[in-house]
Amino acid sequence: MGWFEQRSGLDGTVAVITGGAGGLGRQIVIDLVANGVRPAVLDTDAEALAALEATLAETARENGQAGSDVLLRVGDARDADTMTSLFTAVDERWGRLDTLVNIVGGTFRAPFTDTSPNAWNALLRMNLTHVFQACSLAIPRMRAGGRGGSIVNITTIEAHRAAPGYAVYSAAKAAVTQFARTLAVELAPDGIRINNVAPDFVPTPGLQRMAVELNSDQALLDPVGVRVAIPMGRPGTPADIAGGVVFLASNLSSYLTGTTLHPDGGTSASAGWFNWPEEGWANHAPLHLLRDGDRPAAASTERLVEESI
Ligand SMILES: NC(=O)c1ccc[n+]([C@@H]2O[C@H](COP(=O)([O-])OP(=O)(O)OC[C@H]3O[C@@H](n4cnc5c(N)ncnc54)[C@H](O)[C@@H]3O)[C@@H](O)[C@H]2O)c1
Repeated sequence: MGWFEQRSGLDGTVAVITGGAGGLGRQIVIDLVANGVRPAVLDTDAEALAALEATLAETARENGQAGSDVLLRVGDARDADTMTSLFTAVDERWGRLDTLVNIVGGTFRAPFTDTSPNAWNALLRMNLTHVFQACSLAIPRMRAGGRGGSIVNITTIEAHRAAPGYAVYSAAKAAVTQFARTLAVELAPDGIRINNVAPDFVPTPGLQRMAVELNSDQALLDPVGVRVAIPMGRPGTPADIAGGVVFLASNLSSYLTGTTLHPDGGTSASAGWFNWPEEGWANHAPLHLLRDGDRPAAASTERLVEESI
């Protein structure tokens, strides 16, 4: 057994993963399984679950194993009975729970004033309340196991900055972040840790759907746009995010709780600074991109300084 396997302590543990069949979730499940985790995956997409099952079985065969020890369920994480039944199935199958990964989430773009109470409720159900539900089912089981546990929520960079057009999504994900911070303290004496992983831009089917709705898939995936907005100059990959989840699930993060990892290529650090092709780093758009009418009146640095004192 190598250093990572020994220190991670993941081999033989059990994880519940909601939304684990597609997008970021698929890679998260694959990477947890690669470290010996037995996953219970809930997803609404039966086809994606079947594809995941085939991939895991193939990997197991390549590793000389008879099969993969997984529990895959078609179902909706927003439904309380579905979640209860999933956790009961985990009890019956493995009799332990070590990790919970809450991945389900999503949004659409609209100015807040164009949205209705129905839409707010839908966004809260999609991004926040199922996290409460999953945690309320996981915590007693982790406590009963007496080995502690790790809960990981996939949030977003939009929980940490303004997100025009995504006000309720951003609020819901910020609520998950704050929920995790408080719960981390409540659960620390039990050795149960809760942390978040906050991606920025990772092309997935979900992100692609949103781009198509916005009719801006070209702009979103344009290499120049990516280079300007993301300091590392490339979009994230599901593996970039899964690495953070594996770390938080493992004992390598055994003293880390109530916090957020930002696998985002530096966007949360840059906080409004952009790498423009000709001008380099600036925290504003280059003036030549502004139309004449939008240009601020020319002002000398001296005058601006004079006016400010
Ligand atoms: N992709 C990104 O760039 C990005 C950035 C920031 C945050 N996130 C967050 O990461 C998470 C995953 O996003 P993604 O881009 O992989 O999305 P995705 O839509 O590509 O994948 C989501 C998966 O969850 C499943 N799912 C959706 N609703 C479900 C439900 N109610 N119950 C069970 N399963 C459900 C889908 O079938 C799919 O397999 C979301 O919480 C999202 O807000 C993604």
